[in-house]
Amino acid sequence: MRTLFEPTTIGRLRVKNRLVRSATWEGLAEPDGSSGDRLLTFYRRLAAGGVGLIISSYMYVAREGKQHAGQIGIYGDHLVPGLRQLVSAVHGAGSRIAAQIVHCGGQTTRDVAGQRPVAPSAVMSPGYTELPRALGLEEIAAIAEAFAAAAARAQAAGFDGVQLHGAHGYLLAQFLSPSRNRRADRYGGSLENRARFGIEVYEAVRAAVGKDFPVMIKLNVHDFLEGSTTEKDAIHLARALAGRGIDAIEVSGGTPGSGKLGAARPNILTRADEAYFRPQLEALRDAVPDLPLMLVGGLRSLDVIEEIVTSGLADHASLCRPLIREPDLPARWQRGDRRKADCISCLGCFGPARRGEGVRCVERDRAPAAPPA
Ligand SMILES: Cc1cc2nc3c(=O)[nH]c(=O)nc-3n(C[C@H](O)[C@H](O)[C@H](O)COP(=O)(O)O)c2cc1C
Repeated sequence: MRTLFEPTTIGRLRVKNRLVRSATWEGLAEPDGSSGDRLLTFYRRLAAGGVGLIISSYMYVAREGKQHAGQIGIYGDHLVPGLRQLVSAVHGAGSRIAAQIVHCGGQTTRDVAGQRPVAPSAVMSPGYTELPRALGLEEIAAIAEAFAAAAARAQAAGFDGVQLHGAHGYLLAQFLSPSRNRRADRYGGSLENRARFGIEVYEAVRAAVGKDFPVMIKLNVHDFLEGSTTEKDAIHLARALAGRGIDAIEVSGGTPGSGKLGAARPNILTRADEAYFRPQLEALRDAVPDLPLMLVGGLRSLDVIEEIVTSGLADHASLCRPLIREPDLPARWQRGDRRKADCISCLGCFGPARRGEGVRCVERDRAPAAPPA
């Protein structure tokens, strides 16, 4: 029978267990997106905590695709030496790391992007105040190439794979969405057309890194936004990518405009609150039965995770907030301390990241020190 703490593979990549750190913006990069000592310390600690695979924070593939200060960049060759050090820190502490690569499209501001935000169509991103400009056809091709160049840099820096950010309302998700993509050309209208950009980005990336390098996608299977992406759209894209050799899909959902149905839902306090994208996972499992799937979103209890993984519904369980509070949670569980994650899903971890101090659990800071064992 399958277990959580057994080695497994994602494409050609061997990981020591089925726990994944889901991508997490740290807010610790330099203004030009380069990584320094603060990031090395952050990733070393995470890797030493026993997680099988770390997905990096979302790294921007082009300057105008940046969303937040402190975000790591992968848009230029000068960033590769810093990234190489980061990868070495993770490998030295016994884990594996894939680079998540993103273009934020309309979900950014002129201040950070350095220009008016761009998107498939001039449609406001829910939660944002600046109307983006619609991309021209040549610009769309250039962004696909920027993803490919970023993936090649990740490979050159020693990353163990890449993950396309196709979730949470960023550019890939904007193209797939019927409400955010109003184009009348071959990138808009029919589902086939809306999925085209995601497929072209995947194909450009695959061509750049070769067939043996793991390429994954984090995919919104539901946007929980009026008129936007649902399972039908996501399944079409997932099947197309599976047929072209993608190595894994991480199932997610929600956007910054989805309120309480966003990607990082608040107040996951009972077992019934956990695994909140399970219905979307089940839909995708049926659609791509042979593809490795990861589930993210509100996983907190070891037995909930074990049930999802040992049943074969998901192949990997991804955690974000629990590992901000307890980077050594995987090691704690593996030692036999089965208490659920301490994270209370308050989202206070965003505060220090926004202030440039780096993502951190503010509840842990407040909690009294545990008595000596
Ligand atoms: C502080 C913070 C930063 C995040 N940064 C990213 C990111 O860079 N890329 C991404 O795909 N998701 C990001 N997410 C979403 C998480 O990866 C994850 O999908 C979500 O938090 C649900 O998982 P959880 O319940 O284990 O936290 C972030 C979430 C938080 C709380």
